[in-house]
Amino acid sequence: MVSEPPATPVRAQILVASNRGPISYALGEDGALDARRGGGGMVSGLSAIGSGADSLWVCSALGDGDREALRRGVGEPGVLMLDMDPDIHSAAYNDIANSVLWFIHHLLYQTPLEPVFDADFRRRWSAYESYNRAFARALADHAADGAAVLVQDYHLALVPGLLRELRPDLRIGHFSHTPWAPADYFRLLPDDIAEQLLRGLLGADRTCFLTRRWADAFTDCAVRVLGEDALTGRRIGVHGLGADAGFLKERSHRPDVAERMTALREQIGPGRRTVVRVDRTELSKNIVRGLLAYRQLLDTRPEWRERVVHLAFAYPSRQDLAVYREYTAEVRRVADEINEEYGTDGWTPVVLHVKDDFARSLAAYRLADVALVNPIRDGMNLVAKEIPVVSDEGCALVLSREAGAYEELAADALTVNPYDITGTADALHRALSMPADERLRRTERLAAAATALPPQRWFLDQLEALRAL
Ligand code: G6P
Repeated sequence: MVSEPPATPVRAQILVASNRGPISYALGEDGALDARRGGGGMVSGLSAIGSGADSLWVCSALGDGDREALRRGVGEPGVLMLDMDPDIHSAAYNDIANSVLWFIHHLLYQTPLEPVFDADFRRRWSAYESYNRAFARALADHAADGAAVLVQDYHLALVPGLLRELRPDLRIGHFSHTPWAPADYFRLLPDDIAEQLLRGLLGADRTCFLTRRWADAFTDCAVRVLGEDALTGRRIGVHGLGADAGFLKERSHRPDVAERMTALREQIGPGRRTVVRVDRTELSKNIVRGLLAYRQLLDTRPEWRERVVHLAFAYPSRQDLAVYREYTAEVRRVADEINEEYGTDGWTPVVLHVKDDFARSLAAYRLADVALVNPIRDGMNLVAKEIPVVSDEGCALVLSREAGAYEELAADALTVNPYDITGTADALHRALSMPADERLRRTERLAAAATALPPQRWFLDQLEALRAL
């Protein structure tokens, strides 16, 4: 099941496991393989231990390009891509991880009709178990005696327990990058599955979360489902991943970003304010309600018409799932409606971009007068932390109280209930009206809070905590 690239160490001292790895391959029409490096906290975190270190990142082949790379024996040293059966992967990733576990932790179900836990669900759950077993086996095979293993996220919730059975000598950490559901909502899951998930995670020496709030929700669930003793001898950690200031500042001042700024300025028009949002087109990000709030602002405060542009970047995500495709269509529909209703010859109220472009995102960060981050629920939300670090002239942050980042940023943000359109429209007005000096002072404090735990420190803290056990 597992094929490995040539320079992979046979037994590593530090292992990371995640569904999505640091590299992915795309198969061109000419048959050539194009390797793409991903970003994110884990990639820069792991760089803290240096390239010469004895480490291995275990991930899954995700698409045809990855599978072709495995077939051709193409790979990267330090990365072990598992050759998962595509049907097993799709059932585990699309049907369980993204359609059940993600929905549970982000409170996304429309409960009169869903979820439905029937025989079909049970078949998919078996695939999720096989997928987790494949990771546990690969980690067990490639870990040196007493090695530290850092397992990531809800895709791999069963791995810690399974791995502990195979290799009791290892130090195992699990990190949830998502929120954790309130106990009543978590218990929508069938009892045996709820129990299996909790026991899986508690198989780790340390079970970790991005904020105290998610850690507390987890311990509450564990006690409610498994009983009072569930946490005896268990360690629950909190590590609030921050933004990487050095990287962001350098990257956002390269020529490709300057080019994008020129193009965006043209779309915005002279003298106008900007409300910026950058997200994956993700149900939990609440993009549609963000647009509705912006529409309400234009409706109830006509003084902003012609004077503000909403730059909304909503990049494709999880398009294998119908509900994500429908959501993407709804985002477009509402943006078009606003432009039809309010737009004039020289003014487009919403500039929506749906093609992923990191340089353009940074350009928008630099131009932002207001950042809109209004998720229904979010593990952390790094955009809320990145914009204050990058913005040229300071930006006012409108922030959902349901984002993990709220814990660290609330004091200097304008905070909103993400379901309250009127409240959000009002916060946008206050943000747009904030005096420049106040905005700058708040932005400085936001940037300091946002960078308190940079990715490398975040990663090393977890590693050191595991090794100290
Ligand atoms: C969230 C999850 C990550 C995931 C990312 C992108 O941040 O916590 O585990 O990788 O979304 O989603 P995707 O399904 O494209 O990997």
